[in-house]
Amino acid sequence: MTILETLAEILGPQHLLTSEADVRRYAQDWTGEWQGRPLAVARPGDTAEVASVMRACHAARQPIVPQGGNTGLVDGGVPSKDGGEIVLSLERLNHIRVIDATGFTMTVESGCILQTVIDRALAEDCFFPLSLGARGSCQIGGNVSTNAGGINVLRWGMMRDLVLGLEVVLPDGRIWDGLSALRKDNTGYDLKQIFIGAEGTLGIVTAVSLKLFPRPSQIQTCLLAVPSAAVALGLFGRARRDLCDLLSAYELLTRPCLDLVFDTYADIRDPLSEAAPCYVLLETSVSGALDLRPRLEAFLETAMEEGLVLDGAIAESEAQRTAFWRIREDLVDAQYRVAPVHLRTDVSVPQAALAEFIAEVDAAVAAQFPDMKPIVYGHVGDGNVHYNVLPGETTPAGDLGPRLKECEALLFERAAAYRGSISAEHGIGRTKRSSFLKTLPEVELSLMRGLKSLLDPQGLLAQGRVL
Ligand code: LAC
Ligand code: ZN
Repeated sequence: MTILETLAEILGPQHLLTSEADVRRYAQDWTGEWQGRPLAVARPGDTAEVASVMRACHAARQPIVPQGGNTGLVDGGVPSKDGGEIVLSLERLNHIRVIDATGFTMTVESGCILQTVIDRALAEDCFFPLSLGARGSCQIGGNVSTNAGGINVLRWGMMRDLVLGLEVVLPDGRIWDGLSALRKDNTGYDLKQIFIGAEGTLGIVTAVSLKLFPRPSQIQTCLLAVPSAAVALGLFGRARRDLCDLLSAYELLTRPCLDLVFDTYADIRDPLSEAAPCYVLLETSVSGALDLRPRLEAFLETAMEEGLVLDGAIAESEAQRTAFWRIREDLVDAQYRVAPVHLRTDVSVPQAALAEFIAEVDAAVAAQFPDMKPIVYGHVGDGNVHYNVLPGETTPAGDLGPRLKECEALLFERAAAYRGSISAEHGIGRTKRSSFLKTLPEVELSLMRGLKSLLDPQGLLAQGRVL
């Protein structure tokens, strides 16, 4: 029997997709930037089926790549172009298994859409804090496998900080049931950590126990105009302290980001009357009776008196809050609409050095690539900035690829000078693999290779990603 016949028997022929029309949506990423050609798409319906698929692929030495909501940004989940990889889609594992509103935990299958998990927690008066632009289509298993970040990391951490336990199918088909919901468990090695952020190279995450929090009863959101990125960063520590450590988001946006959004979407308007060099989108939230509004107003008043904040608008309704967040979140899509090919980065440096880093890169890009257009924004409370570069009107189309690569090298080199990271949140996938391997110290490389060969000795899972 061929591997496709075996898989059709395990899954039923309707859940093994092979026709070009059926596999199309699994063969490319959401931007259409990367296209692959899968041998087939396997859609198991439960953990036991995932295990059977993995066992069969292991026996047949069949390469396989797991795929969630396909919203990744580093060409990790898209199948290879050679037609040799089977896509393992987790989308049918989409059940919420347990929700415990007293113990603040929830166990969900990996194909659950992040927004569904968030909504389900809210319905139980709980809160699951992971939030990113792709929340309406990304899947929780992908969030685990990429250690997703987003806008609430400064308060609640990355996905890694929100996971209590995992269920994983290993490359040879064995099931590891590590679905503990314990808050404290100090027995032996913490195995779940090696699968979180492994980008599907070590095993298939099939279910997750998550930490929940009390549902916030008040959220205050404001958009602040500030004179520079340096002032925005200086203001961050004060905002944390003065707002009782209840800050849940602190995003920087430079003026070109706002112009790009306003030019792209006629229905998004500038809530402030005058343009400023930089903006901060700040959110503070709490559950219970503490009154946030007067605290936020007092903080803003002092910051304005000192000239740190030039102008600001506080959202007066949920609709206004959504409108403020659209400026930040629709920016990602706006960049693709304006410039389908551009440089997208997610570097981080120590938080205290971020303003200096941005200023240095600004100066270097202006000197070396004066025609190009930096679009700079991000989760600056975490020391993480999306320093993106778009082609300008005079950039010759033929040179674009190599010039973007040079911009990237410049950014990575500057980040390295601060002992920063070339990927704070999007991961390595295939797009950053060579840059990653170039700088990986020998000890780390051999430990990582050792883990990979222990778990996936035949190297069948997510080949060519990360390592
Ligand atoms: C963001 C994603 C792209 O922060 O990381 O918008
Ligand atoms: Zn981000």
